[in-house]
This record gives sequence, structure tokens and C-alpha cells, in this order.
Amino acid sequence: MKSIKLILKVLRNIFTVSFFRQSFDFIAELALENAYALRVMDRGDATPISASARFNHPENIKIGDRTNINRNCMIWAGDNVKVIIGKDCLTGPGVTIIASKYNVKGRDIIRSYPAFERDVIIGNDVWLGANVVVLPGVKIGDGAIVGAGSVVTKNIEPYTIVTGVPAIKLKNR
Ligand SMILES: CC(C)(COP(=O)(O)OP(=O)(O)OC[C@H]1O[C@@H](n2cnc3c(N)ncnc32)[C@H](O)[C@@H]1OP(=O)(O)O)[C@@H](O)C(=O)NCCC(=O)NCCS
Repeated sequence: MKSIKLILKVLRNIFTVSFFRQSFDFIAELALENAYALRVMDRGDATPISASARFNHPENIKIGDRTNINRNCMIWAGDNVKVIIGKDCLTGPGVTIIASKYNVKGRDIIRSYPAFERDVIIGNDVWLGANVVVLPGVKIGDGAIVGAGSVVTKNIEPYTIVTGVPAIKLKNR
């Protein structure tokens, strides 16, 4: 009985140490990654960025004055492509903006195809609802609203409200 208790105690200690180590590594990685991103990206004034937002190639990301980047957003610029977001924009939680994809033209291994990379340009006063996905090459005009859960595959005219997968015009603002 004593030896079983001892084994359980040792196991619990190992679990606790590894749990704290993993948590520490995770938090340190997030903090370092975000600290680097915030330092190198081109950010305007008063741009609240959630600690849980993530950035790929932050040196190619521009965020205008008073634009917020909400929880769990992912902004994915590329080696040679930019993501540019204007002033006074709102992002809901979980928004993903991607400037890069694979140009798949057959059945070879997907990652063997060349990357298709195009700038994503978002105007001023744009609202991207929760969990919106914006794909490479898309331009979103000033004042547009993209409904929650939409996937934006094509350009969006200024001051239009779009929803759905793929996002289409619902009405004018
Ligand atoms: C797109 C949006 C702005 C439209 O709001 P609205 O002008 O008040 O529109 P309504 O609620 O009157 O809906 C109009 C129609 O669009 C549909 N619709 C609304 N939002 C939709 C969405 N995200 N996806 C698909 N359809 C949507 C409604 O079902 C309704 O359809 P119906 O006419 O067939 O009944 C809003 O629905 C939305 O998605 N806001 C984002 C909210 C959000 O993500 N907040 C996060 C915090 S920033």
C-alpha cells in the first residue's frame, strides 16, 4: 500500500512539473512571438491587439490608426506579400486574413505546388465579423461590413454588407 502511494506521489510530481514546464514554454513562446510581431509590424496609433492574435511575416503587415485586432485573429502575410488594414476597422474574434495559398493544378503533393501569393488590402472603417476568413488577393472597400462566419473570396465594394460562404452582397450600408 505504501509503495503504491509512493508511486502515485512520484507520478503526480512528474505530471505537475511537466505541466508547468509546458505551460511556461507555451506562454513564453506566445509572448516572444507577439513581442517580435508588435515590434516589426507597421502599426498606427491606438491599435489594440489581443495577446492571443497571431501574425505571420509581421514585417509585411500594416494596421491603421484605431483599428483593433481581436482575440484569436490570425493575420498571415507572406515573404513577398502584404496584408494592409486601414484606419478605424473592427475585427471580431477569430478573424483570419491570408495572403498566401498553394496553386494546386493537379494531384501532385499539395506542398510541391508553387505558392500563390497576393496582397490583401482592407480599406478604412471596415468591420469583419466573428470568424470571417479573407483569402489572398482580396480588396475590401472603405466602410464595408462582412457578416460573421463569411469567407471573402472576391473584392468587396465600398459600403456594402456581405455575408456567407462565399461572401455575397446582402445590402448597401
Ligand atoms: C452581417 C450583419 C452586420 C447584418 O446585420 P443586419 O443588417 O442587422 O442584418 P439582419 O440581422 O437583419 O439580417 C438580414 C439577413 O441576413 C442574414 N444574415 C445576417 N447575418 C448573416 C451572416 N453572418 N451570415 C449569413 N447570413 C446572415 C439574416 O439571416 C437575414 O436573412 P433573412 O432576410 O433571409 O432573414 C450581422 O448579421 C453580422 O454578422 N454582424 C457581425 C456580428 C459579429 O461578428 N460580432 C462580433 C463582435 S465585433
